Amino acid sequence: MNILFLGDIVGNSGCNSVKKNLPYIIREKAIDFVIANGENAAKEGVGITENITHELINSGVDVITTGNHVWDQKETFDYISQQNRLLRPLNLFNNPPGNGFEIYKSKKGFKIGVLNLMGNIFMKKCNDAFIESKKFLEKNKLKTHYDFLIVDFHGEITSEKMAIGHFFDGSATLVVGTHTHVPTNDGRILQNGTAYLTDAGMCGDYNSVIGMNKKNSINRFFKKESKKHFPAEGEASLSGVIVEADPKNGLANNVNSFIFGGSLKNIF
Ligand SMILES: [Fe+2]
Repeated sequence: MNILFLGDIVGNSGCNSVKKNLPYIIREKAIDFVIANGENAAKEGVGITENITHELINSGVDVITTGNHVWDQKETFDYISQQNRLLRPLNLFNNPPGNGFEIYKSKKGFKIGVLNLMGNIFMKKCNDAFIESKKFLEKNKLKTHYDFLIVDFHGEITSEKMAIGHFFDGSATLVVGTHTHVPTNDGRILQNGTAYLTDAGMCGDYNSVIGMNKKNSINRFFKKESKKHFPAEGEASLSGVIVEADPKNGLANNVNSFIFGGSLKNIF
């Protein structure tokens, strides 16, 4: 039972590559369920539109997670409650529209829980991710409420992500970090059977500064006159992780980084 998680899809480059390549990847790797972080998928590189949500779902993405940019396209606030395949972080203040957790049916009929959380350090202010995680696990149990649990922890710093990974160890199938747009090489199975990767990287053009036009980004660091950030438009690398999950206990048998296309060295 293989689950693919794709890191933050950035702009047209990321969306086009997912639409073009995902059906092939699903076939080739016998993937049963696909989750992708889509909070940078709009053409401006921030937020996601209803149209893009449909396009990604039609290309084979089962669930789209988000993070700090979830509301950057205004329409999202209105349509998210009608689209249960689009999640926002569970721990946002004041319980806005949409959900941070849902249970879905995979192609093979497994119940897959997907939990979207956002970190507290160097991020927009939100409820404490650790306290919310503890409350979540008091109510939701692997193999009781769902066959598998995938956690997208959208955060900036590695220590916070690693701590949340260990906190969920034995209670989730995979804990994967998103948001930095840089893939880490520390994929492993933790002591109690949960697969973990600090950051899935992005699905976008790596000839850039985390997906954004590099010249403009350098100008901004020099504080020269510059435009708002805008995405690089070259060929994307799709970056993420594939977890081989065990239906007996809901934990991970194997975990492998995944990089396809574009300028990053491919791991496929
Ligand atoms: Fe983010």
